[in-house]
Amino acid sequence: MPWKKSSEEKLDLNEARKVLDEDHYGLDDIKERILESLAVVKLRPDSKSPIILFVGPPGVGKTSLGRSIARALGREFDRLSLGGMRDEAELRGHRRTYIGAMPGRIIQSLRRVGVNNPVMMLDEIDKLGNDFRGDPSAALLEILDPAQNNTFRDNYIDLPFDLSKVFFIATANQLGPIPMPLRDRMEIIQLAGYSDREKLNIAKQYLVPRQIRDNGLKPEQLEITDDTINLLTARYTREAGVRQLERTVGNLARKVALKVAEGLTDKVTITAEEVKGYLGPPRFYPEEARKELPAGVATGMAWTEMGGEVLFIEATLLPGGSGLTLTGQLGEVMKESAQAARSYLWSHAAELGIDRETIQQNGVHVHVPAGAIPKDGPSAGVTMASAMASLYTGRKVRSDTSMTGEITLSGLVFPVGGIKEKVLAAHRAGIRRIILPERNDSDIEEIPPDVRKELKIITAARISDVLNAALEAETPDTTEKDYILPASETQSDGAGDRLVAQEKQ
Ligand SMILES: Nc1ncnc2c1ncn2[C@@H]1O[C@H](COP(=O)(O)OP(=O)(O)OP(=O)(O)O)[C@@H](O)[C@H]1O
Ligand SMILES: [Mg+2]
Repeated sequence: MPWKKSSEEKLDLNEARKVLDEDHYGLDDIKERILESLAVVKLRPDSKSPIILFVGPPGVGKTSLGRSIARALGREFDRLSLGGMRDEAELRGHRRTYIGAMPGRIIQSLRRVGVNNPVMMLDEIDKLGNDFRGDPSAALLEILDPAQNNTFRDNYIDLPFDLSKVFFIATANQLGPIPMPLRDRMEIIQLAGYSDREKLNIAKQYLVPRQIRDNGLKPEQLEITDDTINLLTARYTREAGVRQLERTVGNLARKVALKVAEGLTDKVTITAEEVKGYLGPPRFYPEEARKELPAGVATGMAWTEMGGEVLFIEATLLPGGSGLTLTGQLGEVMKESAQAARSYLWSHAAELGIDRETIQQNGVHVHVPAGAIPKDGPSAGVTMASAMASLYTGRKVRSDTSMTGEITLSGLVFPVGGIKEKVLAAHRAGIRRIILPERNDSDIEEIPPDVRKELKIITAARISDVLNAALEAETPDTTEKDYILPASETQSDGAGDRLVAQEKQ
């Protein structure tokens, strides 16, 4: 065990900045926060190292930022994957009286790196399990507590080991599953995913050169045009990060490597037209915002572990029925938003121009297609309200508009999370008009400027503001109210096709 052995720290902040820039495009404020943490380490070498937690969708660079930090600090790096770990003894070791007893992963890792001050990455900390064998997150509480971890006691070694010199970095896809006391010990840095422009730059500067090198080609042997990269981003991948994009570029590079190795060619330029010949037909169709929405359908945005998604909420009247029917595997909170939306419309029918009879004499069925999106949380409230208001008034919801926000029974719109991811997803889907809660104002700053300048963002404090912005002007011909959706309309939206494609992947 490296009881006393440390690697020598060479902490030069300019050097660290250079390393971070070398390895990652963009992410300016994230790099800044990392450097701030490192500055403290530099100024107070005896202070406790900060514990950083990177949270964000897959493939946005969480693990690779951790590696860069190790490189910038000139320290050893080791990664522990916590995904699926259920047994406390895996972290803390077994007593030696057990057959097959082993030290825990922390101690094993220290032995592997051979120093007592590595950068140790606790990957996928949100995927920790727990069962009758104990709760590994409880062990982590001790490991990550600067006040206790200088005497960490592994059951196998049974001597205290000083972990206070270890620089811990954790990563997670979502904050939700991480127990509060654990979250509290870490400095949380959120990564939200990239816009198409950022992906293009990442691909040009990092992914393509790396794949060319990894596949044994020389830089001049493969050229991939910007149009090609944009096509790969839009039609061959669908993700917040860049991992699939890198894999797809890797596929192209391998195919070119084969040709070069066979001596068929010495230099290839891949244009957008030729991609199909290499990779087959596109896997995703541009998830067009629907051209026109029938009355009763509204476009919303959801946040998932994978980033943002656009989803449609459909409401239809059930003449002669009663109450509210909800389908689409909605979670409890989402069901409650639907009820709140209906109650609000009912109680404010007169001022909203809704015929109260319509509400009283008909049931409503609200359905949220798109099976693969986990549907819970309050953020679809405004979308539910718009879909139902549209149904009751016969005024269509504008098809160029998508919205998110929590509602209250008294008609207020409350802020919700994941704004950047949601807006990026809507933008990818071709939506250019977005309604957000007024109190999410500060999140608008975080939307990349190239995306923001193409969008019209409307903020709403009350449900009535949302409805004013979302519903089309009253149609002159109100005699013909066709509430029932034609079957084709409900079946053929891009979202369904896309999800099927996603599952196949
Ligand atoms: N800003 C960036 N600049 C350059 N390369 C990047 C950037 N962001 C991500 N990458 C590259 O994308 C790939 C995937 O990143 P990484 O493995 O760090 O993702 P992750 O966030 O840890 O995802 P997961 O949650 O799935 O573990 C890496 O090869 C990384 O170098
Ligand atoms: Mg990772």
